[in-house]
Amino acid sequence: MVDRKKLTIPYLFEKVHNCEPITWLTCYDYPTAYFQEQAGIDMILVGDSLGMTILGYDSTLPVTMEDMITHSKAVRRGAPTAFVIGDMPYMSYQPSVESAIRNAGRFMAEAGCDAIKLEGGTEMADRIEGIVKAGIPAIGHLGLTPQSASALGGFKVQGKGALQAKKIIESAKALEQAGAFCILLEMVPDRVCEIITKRAENCIIMSLGSGPSAHGQLLIYHDCFGLYPKFKPRMAKVFGEAGKVIQEGLNLYVKEVTEKTFPQPENWFGMKDDEYEALLEMLD
Ligand code: KIV
Repeated sequence: MVDRKKLTIPYLFEKVHNCEPITWLTCYDYPTAYFQEQAGIDMILVGDSLGMTILGYDSTLPVTMEDMITHSKAVRRGAPTAFVIGDMPYMSYQPSVESAIRNAGRFMAEAGCDAIKLEGGTEMADRIEGIVKAGIPAIGHLGLTPQSASALGGFKVQGKGALQAKKIIESAKALEQAGAFCILLEMVPDRVCEIITKRAENCIIMSLGSGPSAHGQLLIYHDCFGLYPKFKPRMAKVFGEAGKVIQEGLNLYVKEVTEKTFPQPENWFGMKDDEYEALLEMLD
């Protein structure tokens, strides 16, 4: 295992203070969490994007709290020292402050998460405030918020116009004032991200496709490794072609079993002659 202490919010702020970018990836399972931890990742988001990347839905909307808790637990087991964030799924916090606190608490108590994230601006500030007052660290999510993709007109850049950009900047301040220790900006123009980062007083600003001025970067793991067959967002970079490697391996497995070149003696277990003879006698 990687040799480090459990990462904490003060550690993340220290990185900001020292101008060291914070690293953040999504993750949904034990082995990937293990690999990310070995790589020294700072933050892990158990994103409700698992609805698309893992469960094969067309959106994140069908994801349930049960799905999220199961996957968060697996990630926690694989990454004991990373700062793990549970992503609140659709309708787990929108109905009321009470539902938000109750479900945020489940991520902490049942899955051992370090914080939660929820989508939305000024209109969700009371949910953030309630969760933080309950003692749970909260992260806001502005810009392209996939749970509202239909209302936003699809998966596209948010805040390109001055009026919409001003609204996002105001929302960031409202979330910070409500107690969010961190805000994710997804697909917001780099200049808007820069303004928000400069104006943040006690809040870590993270970027997903929003440029380099933020305090750190987030990407979706499956986009980074060619593991999502339907599409690759423009802002994602492929850091390794794991999907291609897996596909080639699977093709080879099917070929070798079909052609009877697998298994070979090293792939099975034998039995000593005397035990085999005794067995045959017992069966007669
Ligand atoms: O669910 C998720 O992975 C997310 C990212 C799109 C930021 O919320």
